[in-house]
Amino acid sequence: MAYFITVEGIDGAGKSTHLEFIQSYLNKKNIQNKLTREPGGTEIGEKLRQLLLHDDMDVGTETMMMFAARHEHLITVIQPALQSNISIICDRFTDASYAYQQGGKGIDKSFVKSLEELVHPNLTPDLTFLFDLDPDTAHSRISNERNLDKFEKQSSTFFNGVRKVYLELAKAHSRFHVIDSSQTIDQIQQVISKKLDELVK
Ligand code: TYD
Repeated sequence: MAYFITVEGIDGAGKSTHLEFIQSYLNKKNIQNKLTREPGGTEIGEKLRQLLLHDDMDVGTETMMMFAARHEHLITVIQPALQSNISIICDRFTDASYAYQQGGKGIDKSFVKSLEELVHPNLTPDLTFLFDLDPDTAHSRISNERNLDKFEKQSSTFFNGVRKVYLELAKAHSRFHVIDSSQTIDQIQQVISKKLDELVK
C-alpha cells in the first residue's frame, strides 16, 4: 500500500524540520518512499518555482503556474510512484494554493477549485500534516535567515489570511492533522509518529 502524505503550514511554521522525520519513520517501517516538494519536484517544476518565488505576477497567472508545475509533478513523479507502490511525502500540495492564492492573495476559491478538478480530479492526500503557528512568531523564525523570497516577505495580514484558509480546510477534511508548532521538536515528533502509526497499521 502506497501512501500520499502532504505537509503544509505558513512560512516559518517549521515543516522542513519534520519532513525528514516523516521519511525516516517510513524508512524504518520498510515503506518505500520519495520526498518531493511543490512548487517543484521536476526539472520543469523547479524552473517554474524560480519564477513563482521571485517574480511578481498576477495572482491568476501565479495560480495557473502552480497548477502547471503540479500537473508535471503528478504525471511524471507522483502518479508513477503511487502506482509502483512507492509512498509520496510532498512538501506542500493543492491545499497551499487555496491557502496562499485564495487566503493570502484573494483569488476566488472557485478559480482554485476548477484547476484542482481539472488537474487531479481523483487524487487527494491520505494524510495532511498542517503545522500551525501564529504569523508573528513564524515570521520572527525566518526573518534572520537567508534572503526572503516573495512569499516570505508578505505582511502579517497576508499570513493571517493564509492561516485562516488552512484551518478552514483542516476543519472540512478529516485527512488533516493540525500540529501546534509552538511545541518542542520532541513533542511534535511524538504526535507525528502516533498519527503515522494509525495510517500504516
Ligand atoms: P516553501 O515550501 O516554504 O519552501 P522553503 O521551505 O524552501 O521556503 O516555499 C514555497 C512557497 O510557495 C511558500 O511560500 C508557499 C508558496 N506556495 C503557494 O503560494 N502556492 C502553492 O500552491 C504552493 C505549492 C506553494
